[in-house]
Amino acid sequence: MTKIIGIISFKGGVGKTISVINIGAALSKLNKKVLVVDANFLSPTLHIYLGLLNPDITLREAIRNNILPEDAIYEHKSGLNVMPCNFYKDADLEKFKKIIDYVKEKYDYVIVDSGPSYSEEILGVLMVADEMIFITTPDYPTLTTTLRAAELVKQKKLPIIGIIVNKKRKKSYELTSKDIERTTSLPVISEINDDHKIMISVSKFNSIINQYPRNKNSKNYLRIAKEIIGDEEEIKKLSNELKKIGLS
Ligand SMILES: Nc1ncnc2c1ncn2[C@@H]1O[C@H](COP(=O)(O)OP(=O)(O)OP(=O)(O)O)[C@@H](O)[C@H]1O
Ligand SMILES: [Mg+2]
Repeated sequence: MTKIIGIISFKGGVGKTISVINIGAALSKLNKKVLVVDANFLSPTLHIYLGLLNPDITLREAIRNNILPEDAIYEHKSGLNVMPCNFYKDADLEKFKKIIDYVKEKYDYVIVDSGPSYSEEILGVLMVADEMIFITTPDYPTLTTTLRAAELVKQKKLPIIGIIVNKKRKKSYELTSKDIERTTSLPVISEINDDHKIMISVSKFNSIINQYPRNKNSKNYLRIAKEIIGDEEEIKKLSNELKKIGLS
């Protein structure tokens, strides 16, 4: 059965889109069929990170024009499937849900990117997601917004996989993951370092997982993907396969 994972934060620039791309790429590396969807309707950028600069047909056109949703899906060179979006004000969220319900059948996982505030984009993600992952950076202002997001998701009774602490610099002024877990009562599933290799990968329209498979952050994204898959037997089998090719 397909699992739909929503990636959210109530703050811009913390790394939602980078997380969507890399979790998607990591699940693909583990032989899962993955679609990444841009539900950041007011400021969509997912496609740009993946080198799709000006797609004419996107989620917006699929919602508005009754075209086939498949026509709004593109394949990245890594094999990851992408449903981009053009700027879309007052998105029809009911129709958005119908489209996701229709396209999800072909995938093991659908990872949904979202906008940075409590607005229509977040509501869209909450409508379609089976499980949520929060992205935060290790500082008080961002953690405050993560707390608000967590409260909202808990109110909606949606399962939460946990929090990814992104852009860690390992400085003494940063919040620790223990601080973040204590404050939110949620598990931190991974720490991702602030890493120029992520920026280099962006400049090459690629995920760090595919650009630098042996990088520490790439391995962390693989661990996140394994945690998402969650089936111990399957993880063992896949880890052995990855070891054989030197990736685990
Ligand atoms: N771990 C990291 N190390 C270095 N750079 C990063 C990291 N994570 C994200 N970035 C960079 O930070 C910037 C913001 O990341 P991203 O676009 O993923 O954030 P976002 O939460 O999706 O933002 P928005 O809310 O505006 O959509 C990008 O330039 C991205 O390449
Ligand atoms: Mg984004």
